[in-house]
Amino acid sequence: MRHLLSIDDLEPSELTDLLDLAASFATIQEREVPKVPALRGKTVVLAFFEDSTRTRTSFDLAARRLSADVVNFAAGSSSLTKGESLRDTVETISAMGVDGIVVRHASSGAPHQITQWTDAAVVNAGDGWHQHPTQALLDAFTIRCRLGSLEGRRIALCGDIAHSRVARSNAQAFAALGADVTLVAPRTLLPPSLEGWPVQVSHDLDDVVGELDVAYFLRIQNERIDDALFPTVREYRRRYGLTVERAARLKPDALIMHPGPMNRGVEIDPEVADDPRAVVRDQVAAGVPVRMAVLYQLLGPGQFDDLTSETRTGGR
Ligand code: NCD
Repeated sequence: MRHLLSIDDLEPSELTDLLDLAASFATIQEREVPKVPALRGKTVVLAFFEDSTRTRTSFDLAARRLSADVVNFAAGSSSLTKGESLRDTVETISAMGVDGIVVRHASSGAPHQITQWTDAAVVNAGDGWHQHPTQALLDAFTIRCRLGSLEGRRIALCGDIAHSRVARSNAQAFAALGADVTLVAPRTLLPPSLEGWPVQVSHDLDDVVGELDVAYFLRIQNERIDDALFPTVREYRRRYGLTVERAARLKPDALIMHPGPMNRGVEIDPEVADDPRAVVRDQVAAGVPVRMAVLYQLLGPGQFDDLTSETRTGGR
């Protein structure tokens, strides 16, 4: 693996290897000094051309916990505002000698384009409607920690599928790991074609809610929607939101998930977001070890097999 642009880039066995590696990095977090020297001397640039709280912070922490040097490039305060092109910007960053570039961009395909302009490894931290592979990995990690495995699990991705990069990556990753994935959305919030999506589709949340092992809710991506695609927020919540009444119909051991940022009272009721079955905080926490695993795999000394406990743990 030279870059991580899409879940498609990974074989199911590579997905599992990354999750296993993340599990071993998770133990580092419990230490007094949660840091290992694995990427000492490497430089990672976080190039976020679109806003982010969770993803950016956890990539930053992940790189630092592996002892990499981290440079935060904020598009808003860069020469992009003076009209410099993405290509010039990337070439400028690369010329300073960086090993990894973590990119978030509003345009689908931007991280792929960037691989043409740099020798650094590129990690897609979310591009337009297209992909968000590390989100899928951290969600799979969270499910694995809670339920043991994704094999045979019934998972619904509910909400604005059409504009969601999380839905694309998660459907692929969950299906590759053996889950049975259903998209639940009104027709207007589904992509025009579902060719190649390893999923079933339902337009009625009440039909499926009682059978789910994982109920995964997505935000309406208002920043990517121009037209009215559903009557009112109230109507949307009534039909597709995880209301208190609907949550009562979920299995007692089902997981409630959301990638954040949550719009409480739209796709998820405020009380439900704090339900003991909601694992939103676990998802956020999983972001750090999962992104450590990705950075290590791309920038570290070699393949998993070469990992000695010395490299992984710094000798402790
Ligand atoms: C998502 C994103 O930005 O793609 N959030 C995230 O990375 N945790 C989902 C969203 O914005 O709704």
